[in-house]
Amino acid sequence: MVLVDRIQIQQVLVNLIRNAVEAMADSPVRELTVAARPGGKGLVRISVSDTGPGIDRQIASRLFQAFASTKEQGMGLGLSICRTIVEAHGGRIWTEPRPGGGTIFQFTIMGADTEETA
Ligand SMILES: Nc1ncnc2c1ncn2[C@@H]1O[C@H](COP(=O)(O)OP(=O)(O)O)[C@@H](O)[C@H]1O
Ligand SMILES: [Mg+2]
Repeated sequence: MVLVDRIQIQQVLVNLIRNAVEAMADSPVRELTVAARPGGKGLVRISVSDTGPGIDRQIASRLFQAFASTKEQGMGLGLSICRTIVEAHGGRIWTEPRPGGGTIFQFTIMGADTEETA
């Protein structure tokens, strides 16, 4: 259970899942995993991982900036919106390489118990 604006967090997940699916377009193995686990300090950590080619080094340092895209038709707004929404919820969002190839995006949000116990 988490304490969120569900439309906004849905938007974050849609953006991350769409990126994952797009990244795997030419991959022989296309595996998308979405998971939620305790993130410590009353947080919940959500992860979206794929078996795509990983983050292009050209863009890694600008990943969450607006208009940063490696796609021909890309707006480069998805991750910027994700970060704005997650940070407005008091969480953070980051990425790391997936062991075995691909990318894992993770973000934290407050668990629903946090308010009660605070
Ligand atoms: N799952 C992913 N695997 C590899 N690269 C990714 C992934 N998600 C995002 N990226 C990289 O981050 C860039 C920015 O993503 P985003 O802000 O959603 O904009 P867009 O999808 O319009 O390009 C993408 O162009 C791509 O280079
Ligand atoms: Mg996108």
